[in-house]
Amino acid sequence: MYKINTNYQKLPGSYLFSTIAKKVNAYTAAHPDKQIIRLGIGDVTQPIAPAIIEAMHKAVDEMGRAETFHGYAPDLGYEFLRSAIVEHDYKTRGCDIAADEIFVSDGAKSDSANIQELFAQDNRIAVCDPVYPVYVDSNVMAGRTGTYDPATEMWSDVIYMPCTMENGFVPQLPKETPDLIYLCLPNNPTGTTITKDQLQTWVDYANRVGAVIIYDAAYEAYISEQDVAHSIYECEGAKTCAIELKSFSKNAGFTGVRLGYAVVPKELKCGDVSLHDMWARRHGTKFNGAPYIVQRAGEAVYSEAGRAQLKEQVAYYMENAGAIKNGLKEAGYTVFGGVNAPYIWLKTPENMTSWDFFDYLLENANVVGTPGAGFGPSGEGYFRLTAFGSRENTLAALARIRKL
Ligand code: MLT
Repeated sequence: MYKINTNYQKLPGSYLFSTIAKKVNAYTAAHPDKQIIRLGIGDVTQPIAPAIIEAMHKAVDEMGRAETFHGYAPDLGYEFLRSAIVEHDYKTRGCDIAADEIFVSDGAKSDSANIQELFAQDNRIAVCDPVYPVYVDSNVMAGRTGTYDPATEMWSDVIYMPCTMENGFVPQLPKETPDLIYLCLPNNPTGTTITKDQLQTWVDYANRVGAVIIYDAAYEAYISEQDVAHSIYECEGAKTCAIELKSFSKNAGFTGVRLGYAVVPKELKCGDVSLHDMWARRHGTKFNGAPYIVQRAGEAVYSEAGRAQLKEQVAYYMENAGAIKNGLKEAGYTVFGGVNAPYIWLKTPENMTSWDFFDYLLENANVVGTPGAGFGPSGEGYFRLTAFGSRENTLAALARIRKL
């Protein structure tokens, strides 16, 4: 008789955004006349920029002719995309990253879930609390998190780094020494970030204790402040301690297209074993490359026209963020984020729990957000709204919330 991976049985509930979708679907079924506005999951709403669509059309046509047809993509990504990434995401920021240190993938969600495979089961992970649930859940599935305490909603073997109003949402170096440190900056869900100097402290710490930082930079395009690093490799010494994950979902609207990449520097070694070689081996065995059409779309993200169009798209979402932030502040809410990230993180009013506030908002304003508690115990009492809605829906949702 076969046996299952019993680690899956340890996972409490379903994936956060699946739980929310189920609740919203039940509400919609019971109230079919209500116009729901969804500012929950961070899914984009603006269409893909014209320069990218044009590149995709061209690639589709190439696939229809024998002389320009493309079969399996190279495991690690096409050279044209990896070079464009190096040129625009790294060289311009003074980071010395080579094209063969870039691993093109189908998105940062899968990379952030899969990367833990490189590490032994008894590694201790440290996560910010609240946290993007994928980091913890993927480690639960791998059997790395110990036992779950439903009372505290914490795993015995995970090191939690609370990020709350009291510490300005800045993770503090943990008392216990971790082996793997997950940092998502600018942060999902709090929408806040840290300065480059603060990030340097983490790089120095990781190098000192022999830890690896898994650096999720999915929201990098939304950085507006000068003293914030766009890549962890802007920090000295990061190549010996950090893996960076990037996404095309939020900066280019690829949530339904799927494209991302991981940077695993060749200098990142455990003794004399190269993590770059391990990830290349893993990619070769388990992944057959992102589609040619999608990689051509990714290349167009870096074209002159693509960059100009995406700058406007990012600005559009950030205007939404500004409108939500200022509108809620005026209405008396305590609000964070929304300056370097497309998420607004608010204190729930009158000490409501974040799930109570979710229900209250759904029922009374027909607006969907994300309860902070879904991201971890320190998210209790907070609530996330995304700026990725259309302008019309964003302003309508804001007006409804303000009327409550
Ligand atoms: C979120 O809402 O947190 C994100 O959209 C999730 C994701 O990017 O996978």
